[in-house]
Parts: sequence; C-alpha cells; structure tokens
Amino acid sequence: MSWLSVTVDVPEAESEWIQTVLTEAGAAGLEVRDGTTPQLPDVRAPKKGEAIIVAFYDDQENADEAVAAVKEHVPQAAIVVEPVVEQDWSVAWRERIKSVTVGRLWVGPPWEKATAPADKVCLFIEPKMAFGTGDHPTTSLCLAAVDEFMKTHAGCSVLDVGTGTGVLAFAAKKLGSGLTIAVDNDPVSVELAKECAEENGLTGIELSEKTLEQIPGTFDLVLANILANTLIALAPLIAPKVKHRLVMAGVLVHQADEVKQAYLSRGLVSVGEVIEGEWIRLDLARA
Ligand SMILES: C[S@@+](CC[C@H](N)C(=O)[O-])C[C@H]1O[C@@H](n2cnc3c(N)ncnc32)[C@H](O)[C@@H]1O
Repeated sequence: MSWLSVTVDVPEAESEWIQTVLTEAGAAGLEVRDGTTPQLPDVRAPKKGEAIIVAFYDDQENADEAVAAVKEHVPQAAIVVEPVVEQDWSVAWRERIKSVTVGRLWVGPPWEKATAPADKVCLFIEPKMAFGTGDHPTTSLCLAAVDEFMKTHAGCSVLDVGTGTGVLAFAAKKLGSGLTIAVDNDPVSVELAKECAEENGLTGIELSEKTLEQIPGTFDLVLANILANTLIALAPLIAPKVKHRLVMAGVLVHQADEVKQAYLSRGLVSVGEVIEGEWIRLDLARA
C-alpha cells in the first residue's frame, strides 16, 4: 500500500482543532510535535508557539480533502503533501545509531565490533528502549567529562543518576573507577543496562532502580544526564552525594543558570561549562 503524508505547521492554539479536522478527513494516524513532545534527532521541530501535525492517508482523495479542510479553517497554515517512502524499519533504526569517539573512548553498536578501533577503550551499546548510545550531545559531553576526570582519579567512586543504557557508568568503569553505582527510575532501562554490562564483560557495577535516599555515602564523581526540571527537583538529593565533582547534562543553554543555582545554594561551586549546539554540560565541585 502507498501512503501520503500531510504535514501541517499551525499555531499551537489551533493544534487540537486541526487534529480533529485531519482525523475527520480519514487520517489513518497522526504524529504531533509541539512544545510538550521531546525533540528527536533528525526530525524537524516546530517553531516556538507552533505545532507540526503529520497525518497519514492511504488515498489521494482523502489527502486532498484534508488539505482543503485545513485551508478552510486556518488559511495561513503551511501544508506539505508527500508520498511516504517505504522503509525497512528493522534496518533503518540501526542506520541512525552512529559510533562516537570521545577522548580515549569509542562507543558504538555491537554490530560494529569487528571494525571498532583497537587503540580505543570500546563500549558496545545496543540502545533498544533506553537512552544512551553515545551519539547524543548530552551523552558525549558527559563521556568527555568522564574521560577527563578518570585520567587523574583512578579507583574513584562513581554514582551515575539516570543511567539509561549504563553508558556513562560503563565508561567510568572501563577507565578505572572503583565503587560504581548506577540508578534509573525506569525498570526497562535498568534491565537493558544489565544486559549491556554483560555484553561488555563488565562486572562490579551496581545497577538498580534504587532512589538516592537508598544509596549511602558520597561519591568522588556524580554524573547526572537528566532533564533540567528533574535536576532541579533532585538537587536536595544529588548535591549531598557529591564528594568531589558533579557533572550534569540534559540541560539546554537557556536553562543553565536555573539548574546551576539549585546546586550552588547547596555547597557546590561551578568549575566549568561546555556547550554543544543547544546543550550545555555543567561541571561543579564540592567547595
Ligand atoms: C537522558 S537519559 C541519560 C542516559 C545516559 N546516562 C546517558 O548519558 O546517555 C536520562 C535517564 O534518566 C532517567 N531518569 C529520569 N528521571 C529520573 C529520576 N528521577 N531518577 C532516576 N532516573 C531518572 C531516565 O529514565 C533516562 O534513562
């Protein structure tokens, strides 16, 4: 079957109404991107205050009807009608995963094992349903911090909050960390991280869904690549865990001050920032 997509850019206030219009014109499915949906790599994001709605139709007549209906309701809406290119998704998603080299580290998918560089510390991560393949800027920014810190802190203790696939904890372990604890509040991520640890022949990393209240002590290096609002909410729990260094990511440049403030008021000082595109990494240390 060949499909047509009708992509409509509308002011966010019109979004729900246009979704109804597109559905009533016979859409088999809708994809909505707006200020509340996460931004995906390689997928066009809506402008501020706008939404992008993609509706899928299995015949031209319905697609034409949809376009006419949208034009009638929102004459200024930008509309693009395109044939949907058939993809073998079992292969396509693999192509989106890129290996990355960060300092001494190389992180890539298991199917690149044969071609992984022999002179790097290699991690093989198959992301499946968890976040953390290394190629997202927030992850690679943290990997760089891990690489740097581990050069001078062999045997240090590490706490990775929001571990996803486990990639940051694994990087620390491979580079010589001692006690390494990684937690995530998503059970699927924790299961997957355990599989990934096995795949990489890593033992001795404590991976669990424990909350920070359940983890005793402080850590030389605390890593937290989570979103800004979560980092702010968790500040009273994360800050006391930091013995030496805290590395935070998942923060957009314009959110940096607010996140930092939540930690500066808890006995930490700022020791650096690194920006990549719209993302910023915040490095703090125990004063
Ligand atoms: C952006 S991913 C980071 C994954 C990986 N650490 C990396 O750097 O690629 C954020 C992770 O934090 C987890 N998370 C979100 N809120 C959390 C919380 N309150 N406590 C623990 N983990 C949380 C999510 O389930 C997700 O796996």
